[in-house]
Amino acid sequence: MLICRCEEITEEEIIEAIRTGARSIAGIRRRTRAGMGLCQGRTCRRLLAGILARETGIPSDDILSETRRPPLRPLKLNIL
Ligand code: FES
Repeated sequence: MLICRCEEITEEEIIEAIRTGARSIAGIRRRTRAGMGLCQGRTCRRLLAGILARETGIPSDDILSETRRPPLRPLKLNIL
């Protein structure tokens, strides 16, 4: 099953990354490029967290909270 459409990364590749030591979304990203595509993980981040939670037992809320950085949505410069 395709998890990251932008980078064409499958669930099997994600699971392999976790089994070889990835314990965060950043770790999965470094091993597979999942989340580094055009949408920058907006589409696949929750799926990655769900797979990581299922495989490691880490709560998905803990996984998702470590990857958020402001601004959460693109802003026009004149708003800043
Ligand atoms: S779907 Fe993964 S980066 Fe876009």
